[in-house]
Amino acid sequence: MEYLVINGGKRLQGEVTAQGAKNAAVGVISAAVLANDICIVDNLPNIEDITNLIAAMNDLGIKCRFIDEHCLEIDPRNIKNHIATGPSVTKIRASYYLIGVLLGKYRKAEVAMPGGCNFGNRPIDQHIKGFKALGAEVFVENGLVKAYAEDLTGTSIYLDVVSVGATINIMLAAALADGTTIIENAAKEPHVVDTANMLNMMGAKIKGAGTDVIRIKGVKELKGVEYTIIPDQIEAGTYMIAAAATGGDVTVKNIIPRHMDSLTAKLCEMDCSVMAGDDYIRVIGPEKLKATNIKTRAYPGFPTDLQPQMTALLSTAEGTSFITENIWESRFQYVDELKRLGCNITVEGKAAVVEGGGRLTGAEASATDLRAGASLIIAALAAEGRTLIGNVRFIDRGYEDIVGKLAALGADCMRVDSKEQAKKVKFMRELG
Ligand code: EPU
Repeated sequence: MEYLVINGGKRLQGEVTAQGAKNAAVGVISAAVLANDICIVDNLPNIEDITNLIAAMNDLGIKCRFIDEHCLEIDPRNIKNHIATGPSVTKIRASYYLIGVLLGKYRKAEVAMPGGCNFGNRPIDQHIKGFKALGAEVFVENGLVKAYAEDLTGTSIYLDVVSVGATINIMLAAALADGTTIIENAAKEPHVVDTANMLNMMGAKIKGAGTDVIRIKGVKELKGVEYTIIPDQIEAGTYMIAAAATGGDVTVKNIIPRHMDSLTAKLCEMDCSVMAGDDYIRVIGPEKLKATNIKTRAYPGFPTDLQPQMTALLSTAEGTSFITENIWESRFQYVDELKRLGCNITVEGKAAVVEGGGRLTGAEASATDLRAGASLIIAALAAEGRTLIGNVRFIDRGYEDIVGKLAALGADCMRVDSKEQAKKVKFMRELG
């Protein structure tokens, strides 16, 4: 098993470039399946979730070919079937977009129930409600979501919960439907807007993406385009938090600063200096961080996908912080692992109380999911001594070359193949 070894206590300094957004990329490359020609998608992050989605698309006969590491050519013209069941489908959450595009384009889809990080119950009832409202017959049988339609007809769909996945999936299915679909109580996340922008370039008629009412006027066909994915708000935020946790001075480049507003506000409340330019943000961590409170909410609220990293950061701040998780029913599973490094956190249902300011010390801990892994990295960077992080595969799902990027900022970190190898790693500072 692979591990990350981090020798903490080093101030991060320098520049890091954000990758393309994972959760936009999965929507955008799925949208390409709806085209009647080749699409080229640039700024794709080189991460496991994308590799798995591409593998699932290739299995369907959608020809995906990398032009370079971050640029993918997608040829959906010779699709072989509408049944997606391979292991790559069940490993990721975003395979649910294959239901939307196959149903939208071919009026039939059979896709294995999606996987993804385990935060307790992750229903897809709102996706199914949307497909049914468009006129599809949808049922779950033998672990597959099966959806069939003679015709898809535009209609009004009110989402009972604000759902990124359901909003994007309904847009995908409705883009080629007859008539106009209205999604009410839609998600406003940047990845929803990015997927809508891609679809509009392809010839779709979507208005209102980024607000809570989206109107999709169905068209007869969608053409091939070249599209560049937006920067990753969560990856960028993780490096901003890493800067704060180490009293560092880090500039995150290639970002859309507006997407970072909720995090920027919290870092300022904690006494960090945050300066934003057109496409970068510089974060300077203070000597002593102040405690604050976090409540996760759908965009533009504070993102749940930065909550675990913030919990680690708040463990290094003086005083008591309160964190309320409003999106996922069980997203504090990582807390027991953070405690191994000395974090003092009490969880009660959807709330956590962080008693910050204690000494963090390196330990052996395991990532329980993608952002849980990122939170361990933050704590390890701030801790004294050496931390060994297991289950690196979770981190690979969403972070491209995180070790290389942190090392370039001055972190002592390394990826190793085994615990034995980890023991042999000699960091310069440990050698004196
Ligand atoms: N929900 C329902 N029914 C549905 C869909 C969602 O009740 O049909 C509920 C969920 O249980 C949750 C809330 O609605 O309580 C929001 O879920 P959403 O559908 O927005 O989540 P998702 O689309 O499955 C995406 C990201 C997640 C991120 C959430 C929230 C992708 C592939 N995943 O998931 O990203 O946490 O939105 O912003 O886009 C991550 O990147 O680490 C990650 C987990």
